[in-house]
Amino acid sequence: MKCSTLTFAAPLLTSVTAFNLVPRDNPKVFGLDIQRRHIANPVAHDRLRRRQKTVQQTLDNLETLYFANTSLGTPEQSLRLHIDTGSSDLWANAASSDLCQGRGDQCAESGTYDANSSSTYTYVNSDFNISYVDGSGASGDYVTDTLHFGGKTIDDLQFGVGYTSSSAEGILGIGYAVNEVQVNRAGGQPYANLPQKLADNGDTNTNAYSLWLNDLDASTGSILFGGVDVEKYSGTLNKLPIIPEQGVYAEFIIAMTGLGRDGTAGSIFNNQTVPVLLDSGSSLMYLPDDITRSLYTDFNAKYDSNQGAAIVDCSLADQSGSLDFTFSDPTISVPLNELVIVAGYQRGEPVCILGIGPAGDSVCVLGDTFLRSAYVVYDLDSNQIGLAQTSFNATKTSIQEIQSGNDGIPNASGVADAVASASGVSGGARNGGPSITGGVSTGAAPIATAHPYLGYGAAMAGAGLMMGWNGL
Ligand SMILES: *[C@@H]1O[C@H](CO)[C@@H](O)[C@H](O)[C@H]1NC(C)=O
Ligand SMILES: *[C@@H]1O[C@H](CO)[C@@H](O)[C@H](O)[C@H]1NC(C)=O
Ligand SMILES: *[C@@H]1O[C@H](CO)[C@@H](O)[C@H](O)[C@H]1NC(C)=O
Ligand SMILES: *[C@@H]1O[C@H](CO)[C@@H](O)[C@H](O)[C@H]1NC(C)=O
Ligand SMILES: *[C@@H]1O[C@H](CO)[C@@H](O)[C@H](O)[C@H]1NC(C)=O
Ligand SMILES: *[C@@H]1O[C@H](CO)[C@@H](O)[C@H](O)[C@H]1NC(C)=O
Repeated sequence: MKCSTLTFAAPLLTSVTAFNLVPRDNPKVFGLDIQRRHIANPVAHDRLRRRQKTVQQTLDNLETLYFANTSLGTPEQSLRLHIDTGSSDLWANAASSDLCQGRGDQCAESGTYDANSSSTYTYVNSDFNISYVDGSGASGDYVTDTLHFGGKTIDDLQFGVGYTSSSAEGILGIGYAVNEVQVNRAGGQPYANLPQKLADNGDTNTNAYSLWLNDLDASTGSILFGGVDVEKYSGTLNKLPIIPEQGVYAEFIIAMTGLGRDGTAGSIFNNQTVPVLLDSGSSLMYLPDDITRSLYTDFNAKYDSNQGAAIVDCSLADQSGSLDFTFSDPTISVPLNELVIVAGYQRGEPVCILGIGPAGDSVCVLGDTFLRSAYVVYDLDSNQIGLAQTSFNATKTSIQEIQSGNDGIPNASGVADAVASASGVSGGARNGGPSITGGVSTGAAPIATAHPYLGYGAAMAGAGLMMGWNGL
């Protein structure tokens, strides 16, 4: 399934952060505050990480990304890693790479790893090779070493080290192990990445975590491995099936079945199923091109090829109203002010962009401009997403463990007839590797595999409607 096409020319913003250890009563849960920081160029950054044909860079601006402080090795080497639900490897630049040795100290922000300075380092293989669409990326070794994370010590965690690199940012990929580059590029076996390792070690009950990004105007959110903070959202968590890609659960793709405005669910569309990737590593959301165009018209957004994004009047953030995303049944409302990002300043005046871009040929992505409004539980063992409307700035906390099994997410209920499959779903493959499915197959017959726990029917109903998406 394609999301359709608009040619994007240039780039924009980027950002960074940190974490604080959150004290927990609960032995099988641990949490970190994550922080948001502005760097430069979110659109450029997103584009590098997605499969797209053309990438050009121009402007610098700021983007919002979520980072956690961690350290690797013995003694500890500090790293600030970008938390990414859209990829599955932790990787860090080697201090010795040309990039990190070069001008400008580009690696200072994220930090670097030096295997020779660590007494707990072990070499695994030389299969690490992550490459982005513009040809940038990193390659080097897979190694194991000790990770220190939120006051926890995890021994012998496998990760990648970029000895050759053109990407300065260290990543903490927390997706499915099957999406590791060792698997999808080198054809190897999956290894236990961080969330899997926590479950294997018994630090959590199961491979599941919750992410609460919080308000655009707040600088910290939190990630909870093995738990849910029931004070950080309203209502009940709605359990939605993750959509497999040709039978394999590889990425956090769920079915978006409607979009509306200002509290009227489905007013923009409610007759199509759009598979969407939940991706904390993407600053913006990327929707089907025709929908993006009509939203640009509605919001009086002007696509600016110099900026590579749609510029909007910053006062849009002062308007009430929302964009409302429906997933079979639950609807998540994204207030308009969460969609307006200050991208920079021109003669002292803020310049704003709309946090929505055209997905083009790639899978649609719900990145941070959507995810801030949602509380999301990612359960990789039961292949379900728990979704609820976030409570911005919630200060109370009440943490419950996630248990293993299909009913393991606390305070959650299943969505009847949730759309559980879609035709031709092919992943974002943002690391440039072959996607697990081997490509987009628009027009394929709907796969009628219902989620085993959530019934059937809606799967077919939605899937058949996806075939008309090829053009604008
Ligand atoms: C994270 O690390 C950076 C760099 O060492 C530091 O400036 C920042 O204060 C740290 N943040 C937290 C919350 O520990
Ligand atoms: C460690 O240092 C040795 C000796 O300088 C060098 O040959 C080797 O390549 C280094 N290994 C790594 C992983 O940097
Ligand atoms: C990594 O993959 C890229 C793209 O497939 C390839 O061009 C490059 O040679 C690979 N690097 C190594 C060290 O294998
Ligand atoms: C959340 O807190 C920030 C400041 O910390 C504030 O600017 C923002 O308006 C608050 N959001 C809501 C929805 O109350
Ligand atoms: C869905 O509905 C919209 C508006 O009612 C219409 O323009 C569009 O053609 C419909 N799409 C499909 C695939 O039926
Ligand atoms: C979830 O918690 C809320 C608030 O305590 C409660 O009203 C709701 O019934 C709970 N839902 C489920 C499915 O447990």
